[in-house]
Amino acid sequence: MANVVVVGAQWGDEGKGKIVDWLSERADVIARFQGGHNAGHTLVIGGEVFKLNALPSGVVRGGKLSVIGNGVVLDPWHLVKEIAAIREQGVEITPETLMVAENTPLILPFHGELDRAREAQNSVARIGTTGRGIGPCYEDKVGRRVIRVADLGDNDTLELRVDRALVHHNALRAGLGLDPINRDALLESLRAIAPEILQYAAPVWKAMNEARRAGKRILFEGAQGSLLDADFGTYPYVTSSNVIAGQAATGTGMGPGAIDFVLGIVKAYTTRVGEGPFPTELHDDDGQRLGERGREFGTVTGRKRRCGWFDAVLVRQTCAISGVNGIALTKLDVLDGFETLRICTGYEIDGETYDYLPTAAAVQAKVRPVYEEMPGWQESTAGARSWADLPAEAIKYVRRIEELIQCPVAMLSTSPERDDTILVTDPFED
Ligand code: IMP
Repeated sequence: MANVVVVGAQWGDEGKGKIVDWLSERADVIARFQGGHNAGHTLVIGGEVFKLNALPSGVVRGGKLSVIGNGVVLDPWHLVKEIAAIREQGVEITPETLMVAENTPLILPFHGELDRAREAQNSVARIGTTGRGIGPCYEDKVGRRVIRVADLGDNDTLELRVDRALVHHNALRAGLGLDPINRDALLESLRAIAPEILQYAAPVWKAMNEARRAGKRILFEGAQGSLLDADFGTYPYVTSSNVIAGQAATGTGMGPGAIDFVLGIVKAYTTRVGEGPFPTELHDDDGQRLGERGREFGTVTGRKRRCGWFDAVLVRQTCAISGVNGIALTKLDVLDGFETLRICTGYEIDGETYDYLPTAAAVQAKVRPVYEEMPGWQESTAGARSWADLPAEAIKYVRRIEELIQCPVAMLSTSPERDDTILVTDPFED
């Protein structure tokens, strides 16, 4: 029985929601292993739209165990609201179907305030975050001053942990011109939310390893994209977690051998939200058209996404770093009707050719994409369910991508509808 990790192989928003939904129907356990409610996963099931941020996509399907792993940062108030909204849509969520790791760090209101205060400071500080406190919470985790789910269970511990966090945060807030944190009000709201969260708290590492031993199918659901990874992304314009496949093990308490298949989600062109380098970004009519046809607006912040041509250099790099076994190529239909398409096959930097993106920011700033042109197609690929439904030029485009990124296409998605998919390899059966 194979366990599958799904990771975004670009800057996020690759269309993971639909693919994860398709896979989660066939999985027994669905686990989030990094990120927080900065993610926005939209699922369309039977015409009904479900919007998820912190909850694993599996919650909308009955008979599954959904898991929030220790690698996630969790806003308890947001989780409670999200659960209520999903329940309104008729989905049952109980401690039998949702498990939250006891060692999951909590995002508190001052994390969001700090995130937004930093972003508002000046262009040097700005990353273009979602403003949801993700970065400050991860900082506190490694700074050994975060409050974790298990701390909610004992008042003395909770007070100690809060005091530890406040020593740091009040000093920081003074420097930023923010009022000190109201300790009593914070403790009161934490005590109030505690029972709501604790009912789901569990030793996730144990449950995951038991599930594996019992031969259950596990789906690890990644959020964001590999180019936003804190180590391998376009630092500092990244998110604050490791988003690549290796994190699936660390972020749930399993060994690396628990991962059998890594599915990279790849959009047929490129987008990014927020600041940071983007070698193939388009500022012309083509970019405008990709944004309009692809409806490229952020699900969390509503921000317009930056758009550009497919960058094979970056995807080859992220597929290698995550050990991607196969990709799910999404939104091919957005390219319908283009006369000519361009694919970035390499970079030129100071007259030299590179087959990867170097790390130094000064070098990255000089990157000039080298493009290969391919003829487009005028027919619609939307809704195609077999290779025979695709125009020859579209197939050539897909084959060229496979060649350049050195990784095969396992799935091809041709519309937001779950059945509009061409399946080449079933990751669970591979
Ligand atoms: P943060 O994760 O809110 O700290 O934001 C850091 C960077 O990651 C910003 O550029 C965000 O736009 C980006 N980001 C965070 N979450 C997502 C996501 O789910 N999709 C795409 N970009 C994201």
